[in-house]
Amino acid sequence: MYHSEWICIVDFGSQYTQLIARRVRELGVYCEIHPFHLALDAIRSHAPKGIILSGGPSSVYEEGAPRITEEVFELGIPVLGICYGLQLIAVHHDGAVDPAARREYGKAQLRIDDQTDLFRGVAANSIVWMSHGDSLSRIPSAFEVIAHTENAPICAIRNAEKKQYGVQFHPEVVHTDEGKTILSNFVYDICGAEGGWNPRSFIEQAIEDIRTEVGDGHVICALSGGVDSAVAAVLLHEAIGEQLYCIHIDNGVMRKAESASVVKTFQDEFHIPLKFVDASDLFLQRLAGVTDPEQKRKIIGVTFIEVFEKEAAEFRDAAFLAQGTLYPDVIESVHFKGPSATIKSHHNVGGLPERMNLKLIEPFRELFKDEVRRVGRELGIPAHLIDRHPFPGPGLAIRVLGAVDQAQLDLLREVDDIYLEEIRRAGEYDNIWQAFAVLLPVKSVGVMGDARTYEFTVALRAVTSLDGMTADWARIPYDVLERISNRVINEVRGVNRVVYDISSKPPSTIEWE
Ligand code: XMP
Repeated sequence: MYHSEWICIVDFGSQYTQLIARRVRELGVYCEIHPFHLALDAIRSHAPKGIILSGGPSSVYEEGAPRITEEVFELGIPVLGICYGLQLIAVHHDGAVDPAARREYGKAQLRIDDQTDLFRGVAANSIVWMSHGDSLSRIPSAFEVIAHTENAPICAIRNAEKKQYGVQFHPEVVHTDEGKTILSNFVYDICGAEGGWNPRSFIEQAIEDIRTEVGDGHVICALSGGVDSAVAAVLLHEAIGEQLYCIHIDNGVMRKAESASVVKTFQDEFHIPLKFVDASDLFLQRLAGVTDPEQKRKIIGVTFIEVFEKEAAEFRDAAFLAQGTLYPDVIESVHFKGPSATIKSHHNVGGLPERMNLKLIEPFRELFKDEVRRVGRELGIPAHLIDRHPFPGPGLAIRVLGAVDQAQLDLLREVDDIYLEEIRRAGEYDNIWQAFAVLLPVKSVGVMGDARTYEFTVALRAVTSLDGMTADWARIPYDVLERISNRVINEVRGVNRVVYDISSKPPSTIEWE
């Protein structure tokens, strides 16, 4: 998509890079993240209003530390370096960095020495978030200090004439009190951005782009019922109406009544042409006896492609495939993969467009999940669909631990349904990133009435998170947990014990498989 104004965020691998992008967009200015070794190409091809150099885990003098060429400082485009970005500014000029400096993690008191531009409107004393090993030991000669902390006498620097700025702390992190004002000063006052980027402007632009690209062609879309594909389908339907065909496949490992609800919502309420395919038998046959989680994922991925391909053959005139791919997926696939990206294979339908010779349409390639939700709301999709917890492609197959069969899936569906119903009733659903039940391959002894029982254990999992990359267990009130446990044990045959998972990610993961 073409954006008349944008900010380029150059990524040096910081855990906070995506946060910088979110903050800038929250300010109403479009931005994109580019890995350090590709950023200059992007900048040269369509000049941004400003450049932000992210933080990163490296030490600038380290062998192989990521760098960007001098050219970035000679383009006449304002630059803001954050943490590692500041240190790069220093070493690219004639400053110096002390790798032996005291490490500093956590909050610090920022004292502003100059409030005229980057720190305009920022209190003279405020809290900032520090997360660095190295720090500046000599300021480059064309720069001046504009803020300091007790530990970092050179905490923020500026070359006003060239509009180049650097800060040691992280303005993008919520713990930095005045972070938003600082970023706003940079993008609006220093870079001269005009703003106005929001879900409505996104939709208008996307509809125009989709119409131009598709012309009078046809598009197919796999509609799972999840937020991303749902919003993609509604957006495409708004853009090209009946030229969109959706296919919903029941893979046998979805939640209770999921397929029926997808059909009802999209076919009956949104009037989107939708083909419903019940392929649950095939999926379950192939999953029979398989215990390895990665193997389960592969089987589900491959079977999905096979079924989808077969069903899509009916729409021979389709030249495009629409997918709800999000920005974090795109970024993850092009540069540094964090350890979490490789622990589980999350991409379930990779390779589909090439095999089917279809052109991809991914209207949300540039958006974060919360932005897709805002787009969905703007498109009039009901809140209960937009605010749904994420649900993994391999579904309940990775929540029935070990081998999966119909009876266990049915049991888990009942538990899951009660769990979510009670969480909603207690008003906890929206405070939780993801809540689900896991069926353990563990039987234990219980007593019901006068009889001894020997039945399954279910684990309840609920986590809070911003992006699924890290997560903490949700503090669901005891009385809500009690109600869930009572209902599950009383209403679901085959379960006599309920446990609550209190592990955070890392070192655990959100899913159990
Ligand atoms: P983990 O378990 O890795 O999960 O902490 C992080 C997020 O990813 C989801 N997840 C998946 N999503 N296919 C998906 O589409 C998968 O194979 C898969 N495995 C995990 C998980 O539900 C959580 O939101």
